[in-house]
This record gives sequence, structure tokens and C-alpha cells, in this order.
Amino acid sequence: MSWSRSSWRTLPSPHIPAYPDPEALRTAEDALKTYPPLVFAGEVRQLKSELARVSEGNGIMLQAGDCAEAFADFNTFNIRDSFRIILQMAMILTFVGEKPVTRIGRVAGQFAKPRSNATERIGGEEEILTYRGDMINGLEPTARSRAPDPERMLRAYFQSAATLNLLRAFAGGGYADMHSAGKWLLDFVENSPIRKKYEQLARKINKNLNVMRAYRESSREPHRQRVDFYSSHEALFLPYEEALCRNDSLTGDPVAASAHFLWIGERTRDPSGPHIEFLRGVINPVGIKCGPDAGARSVERLLEKLNPGNEKGRVTIIIRAGADNAERVQSKLIRELTAAGREVVWCVDPMHGNTINAESGVKTRRLSDILRECRTFVDVCRTENVHPGGLHLEMTGKNVTECLDRAVREKDLARNYATCCDPRLNAAQALELAFEAAEYLAEL
Ligand code: PEP
Ligand code: CO
Repeated sequence: MSWSRSSWRTLPSPHIPAYPDPEALRTAEDALKTYPPLVFAGEVRQLKSELARVSEGNGIMLQAGDCAEAFADFNTFNIRDSFRIILQMAMILTFVGEKPVTRIGRVAGQFAKPRSNATERIGGEEEILTYRGDMINGLEPTARSRAPDPERMLRAYFQSAATLNLLRAFAGGGYADMHSAGKWLLDFVENSPIRKKYEQLARKINKNLNVMRAYRESSREPHRQRVDFYSSHEALFLPYEEALCRNDSLTGDPVAASAHFLWIGERTRDPSGPHIEFLRGVINPVGIKCGPDAGARSVERLLEKLNPGNEKGRVTIIIRAGADNAERVQSKLIRELTAAGREVVWCVDPMHGNTINAESGVKTRRLSDILRECRTFVDVCRTENVHPGGLHLEMTGKNVTECLDRAVREKDLARNYATCCDPRLNAAQALELAFEAAEYLAEL
């Protein structure tokens, strides 16, 4: 079948809900087709070449952010705090793990959620559609709010544009300058139980920066003030992706201009499904989420479709097996795909296989399970002789109480449980994880 940006439409799409007013959806798509791209082909190629370097063992990819962005949470502070923690995590991985880090946010487009059920009944009330992310419908459990509304797609676009505008300014300006790294850490150290570790790291960073400063002064290299920061989301809602697909003005190649990196979820990675059909035609780097049931054969079929030329940096395999299944699932996929000669970035998502229900019924995750799955990943990669290249996380810069650890017990979950989808690591948990992961990597 030949590819076009709309060829996915010939395939059944159970994860794309029916709109009560299809004409209004088309009008919104037509508007979006004329709007500016959110990312540019040159940036997308740059990310792909960074990921190619990661696949060769020379770098780490850190992908982190909200499970789902929300219109109600859109403000400067949320964007800044999340960006800051990602920079800090990257800094820890760089200095402790001694590898360059590619930073990718789950941000500026992460507005559509796959659901296991199309409808639900809450508290014995009438059956209503499930929430599918702010790009599609509202979280409030009423029939009216849950009806898919095309205006939401445009609002998600504008929020993404404004978010990226701020992130580009932060990444390009002095805020991300490595010389401020000690300051970001010190800010945090004030009220952290792992204060000593940060102080040691801050000292080490300063020492290294002094060496680098001396080197730069002697070599007259330009002062490095900016970092690269990329956006990503699950390529779930294909009407949005299609409407933002553009052709590279230099080569004519199709680019998904909604984000630098797009991934395909555990529920939509059918090799003959519409999501693969769309992604196979764009040049962006793509991720494939692989749960405990992902067989190496079906992942190979996906790779044949998404990356027939076996281009380095094109595909990242994000394994999210859960701590108890991790060794079995990771070993099998890594062993079989490596034997088949497949070039991929191996990445762990230690979040999505470790979701449990607390006694109150609320969804949570244990930091200890998350750490255990990361540890297993590094060990399995070592045994199989591949590079543990990526870490995919759900986190926020806020002090939420959504995941369990020494400081957040079941009774504490209700204190600041703010996610509209999955439980995220808070700032302290994210940094603790970065330290642990960096130490595992440093042992390699
Ligand atoms: C997610 O990343 O939020 C998600 C739904 O993941 P998965 O497809 O792996 O379940
Ligand atoms: Co999630």
C-alpha cells in the first residue's frame, strides 16, 4: 500500500472516537493544516542523529514529563518546574553516568490517552464515554463533558505552541547554562533528605566546570549557554498528527511537525494498524512501547515497517514490563532483536508496568518497583552486551503525592494527588531515581 499522510484512514481505528459533529472535526482539521509547524525538519534530524549516537553506546536518552498534559494545569510555573527537574536529572546522569544526555520532554502535545474501555459507569450513574485526554474530551464525568469536541484539538495546538515557545527560551537562554547547575541543585538541596549526595555532586560539578572553563578559555570555544530540548508525545490521535504533517522544504520528506519524537503505545502497536501506517511515512525518530506480551516476532514486523533500511536513531524500543516481568521480557526482546541485527535504542519505561491500586482504590506506583525495573534493565543490557540507552518516565516538578516511597505512604496519597491520568514521580523522587540510574550506569 502506498503511503500518504491520510493512508491510515483506510484502516479501522478503535482508539479514535466518533465525533457527534464530524463536519466540525473536519473544519478544525482544515484550520490546523494551515497553522505553523510546531517543530522543524532540521531539529528532527538533529534528534535522530543524537539517538543514533545513543544506539552506538555514546549517550543516554532521558524522556520525561506528564502522563497527560491538561488545559487546567497550563501555567508558566508548571512548565518551568518540570523543565528544571529534567535538566537536573540530565545533569546527574551526565556527571555520575559520564555520558552526554539527550533531553526529551513528554510535553507540548501529550494530550491524548489510549483507554482500555470506550465507556464507563461512575457510581452507578448512566454509562458515559471514557476520558481520552484534553485534546479530545473533558475529564469531568458527565455525558456532556465527555462528548468529543474538535475545538479541543485547536486548543491543544495553541497550548503546545506556547509551551514550546517558553521551553525554547529556557533552553536557549542563560537559564539552562551549565554554570547554573550548582544553583539549581542547591535550591533543591535545602529541603531534601538526600542532601549530602547533592552537595557532593555540586562540588564535583563545580570542579568539572572549572576544568571545562579553563579548557574553553584556552581553546576559545564559544561559551555553551544553550541546551537542546526536544518534545514528544504518543502519536495516538491521528487526525491531529495528519493535520500537522508537513514536507521538509529542502528534501520534500514528510515530517510529523507536532513533536520531534513520537511514540506508539502498548495498545496501538498492531503492525497492520493505523498508527503504524501513519508513522511509517514520516522521518521523525519514533518509539515503540512494549509490554509483557510483546513478542519479538511482532516487534520485528513493526521494525520492518517503521525502519526497513535499519537506520540508526530511527527506532527506540521502550520496554515497560513491570518489575516482576522485567528480566524475562527485556532479555527475550533484546536477545532476539539483536540476533536479527536490528539497530535500535534500548529504553526502559519503569512506570507503566508497575501501576497498582492503593487500598483507597486510587492508582499508584512504588518507587521501589520503579527502581528495581531500572536496575534489571541495566543488568540485562550488560548480560546481552547492548547499551542501556534510554529512560522513559512520568514525572512532574511539583511536590505531588502520587507514587509511594519512604516519605509518601498510602495514607499520604490523598494529600496532593493531582494527576488526571497515571501517578507521576514528584521532584524528589525523580532526582532520587536519576541518582540511582546514574550509579547503575557508572558501574558499567
Ligand atoms: C503512557 O505512556 O502514558 C502510556 C499510556 O503508556 P503505554 O502505552 O506503555 O501503556
Ligand atoms: Co501514563
